[in-house]
Amino acid sequence: MKLTTKKKIGRNDPCWCGSGNKYKKCHLAQDRQGSTAPPPVKSSGWKRSLDRKLRIELKSKEQIEGIRRASQLTREILTRLEDIADVGVTTGEIDQFVYDFTVERGARPATLGYKGYPKSCCTSINEVVCHGIPSDRKLLSGDIINIDVTSLLDGFFGDASCMYLIGDVSEDARQLVEITKECLDLGIAAVRPEGRIGDIGHAIQTHAETHGYSVVRQFVGHGIGTKFHESVQVPHFGKPGDGPWMVPGMVFTVEPMINAGRYGVKILDDDWTAITRDGSLSAQWEHTVAVTETGVDILTA
Ligand code: MF3
Ligand code: CO
Ligand code: CO
Repeated sequence: MKLTTKKKIGRNDPCWCGSGNKYKKCHLAQDRQGSTAPPPVKSSGWKRSLDRKLRIELKSKEQIEGIRRASQLTREILTRLEDIADVGVTTGEIDQFVYDFTVERGARPATLGYKGYPKSCCTSINEVVCHGIPSDRKLLSGDIINIDVTSLLDGFFGDASCMYLIGDVSEDARQLVEITKECLDLGIAAVRPEGRIGDIGHAIQTHAETHGYSVVRQFVGHGIGTKFHESVQVPHFGKPGDGPWMVPGMVFTVEPMINAGRYGVKILDDDWTAITRDGSLSAQWEHTVAVTETGVDILTA
């Protein structure tokens, strides 16, 4: 989802990230994209583990099972797409498959009509960071494509995405796809009760930047369950010990977008498609996860 900062945050207001620091001392510089320096961490201030102001809805065991059922439908679709996404196939045909399969299972594609979005999935090729709209664009040998699917089943949402390599893909592109998958796995490995949301982004950012890549700032993971996008926001960059606490029953996505070049993005005239500013390749993988008493449960696994 797009990184949102509710109203406009004043310099002296608390930062959107939930750190309790003033915005100017926290994410202001990053939000202006003028700096890659992580914000300073305040050592004290987190007395309660769950910040009521953030209105994060904790899910019951029953709700989590509902989200898992929607997530498993999403997984089945993504798995079947491995045999469909190939040279010569259009992204529109991929979208039609997602629609048909979803509806046949008694579910709805959550993106269809969401804030005016016209299709049943997102198809983001090469320099497209996210929210690529399916069209008559044929897949070509050498393309890398992210297909992002969200199913709405019996009132619950499951959101995941994968990368697909089309035909003969360059070594550079393969490596970006692989390291981005590792970023997702490392981010999820940081999910645990009493951990902090910033731990996730830190793990992802460290791995991406070690390989000379950059982490997209403008789009973040999100709470999910009974709504498509809900509190909490999960940046894919950050500092360990920063941000809201993780509490059992929280359900959110981790969905790092990693660019081969710089992290800046721009939105095309269709008002959806986000591409890298510098034209470099971008990759993304996504899971929906739940925080448990002991660690993490990957609902879209
Ligand atoms: N599935 C995307 C996500 O991971 C959201 C797509 S919203 C759309 O959050 F409207 F662009 F489809
Ligand atoms: Co998502
Ligand atoms: Co998604």
